[in-house]
Amino acid sequence: MRVIVELNREAVGRRAAQFVADLVRREPTCVLGLATGGTVLGMYAELVRLHREEGLDFSRVVSFNLDEYVGLGPSHPQSYRFFMQQHVFDHINIDVRNTHVPDGRALDFEAHSEQYEKMIKEEGGIDLQVLGIGTDGHIAFNEPGSSLGSRTRLKTLTEETVRDNARFFGSMEDVPQLAVTMGVGTILESRRCLLLACGDAKAKAVRNTVEGPVTAQVTASALQLHREVVAIVDEDAGRLLERRDYYRQVEQAQTLLRSGRAPQIAADR
Ligand code: PGA
Repeated sequence: MRVIVELNREAVGRRAAQFVADLVRREPTCVLGLATGGTVLGMYAELVRLHREEGLDFSRVVSFNLDEYVGLGPSHPQSYRFFMQQHVFDHINIDVRNTHVPDGRALDFEAHSEQYEKMIKEEGGIDLQVLGIGTDGHIAFNEPGSSLGSRTRLKTLTEETVRDNARFFGSMEDVPQLAVTMGVGTILESRRCLLLACGDAKAKAVRNTVEGPVTAQVTASALQLHREVVAIVDEDAGRLLERRDYYRQVEQAQTLLRSGRAPQIAADR
């Protein structure tokens, strides 16, 4: 796993947007896996800026979101479809018919989950999956104990996640207890992953993810099994990483590689 430690939240957002924008320029018909939450807001703001000011073209991009709360429809202000429209889709030239968010009001979640997986396959799979991380180490809503081979399905949120997300709802009672979420296995099939984390509250989860054992108790740690993951964290979220100096050294080598002063080989995954 490549680990990039940036100075602050804003720098994480800009760096993450660079990765996404590079892919969209290189492969204009790419399939993006998208995430919601506080962490990704900076990245989306920068992508909107790149679209407005530099003409970054999303017209042929396809997207799949990770998850949605059960019971919330697209017009509910806390639904993830609403979040995506509000912060991203309404401000770029993506074709809304090419954007996919699981349906929190599906009548048959089993059938809906299977269909979601099928749609991802039909689009050729996800080229780049953006991920946040929960304080409990979850990716998407794959709470501790989720099977590392899991696929899209319903998941019960932990009390910790409900508490973390209550800030968006006003009270814990208003946070849905269930979500429909891509599985760890679904995420591991994407071609590349970009894991973002900001703030002190994420420091332990980041350490466990990057330097701990692979375990279903920290579902983000399954990313250690993936061939191409870049984790971008700010100083606070990276505070407990024991090998920070080495990660910096790797980034210096990467800069050398890009400048052409070192052999062009794919390195440091
Ligand atoms: P956050 O959520 O970005 O709002 O902290 C991340 C997550 O729970 O995956």
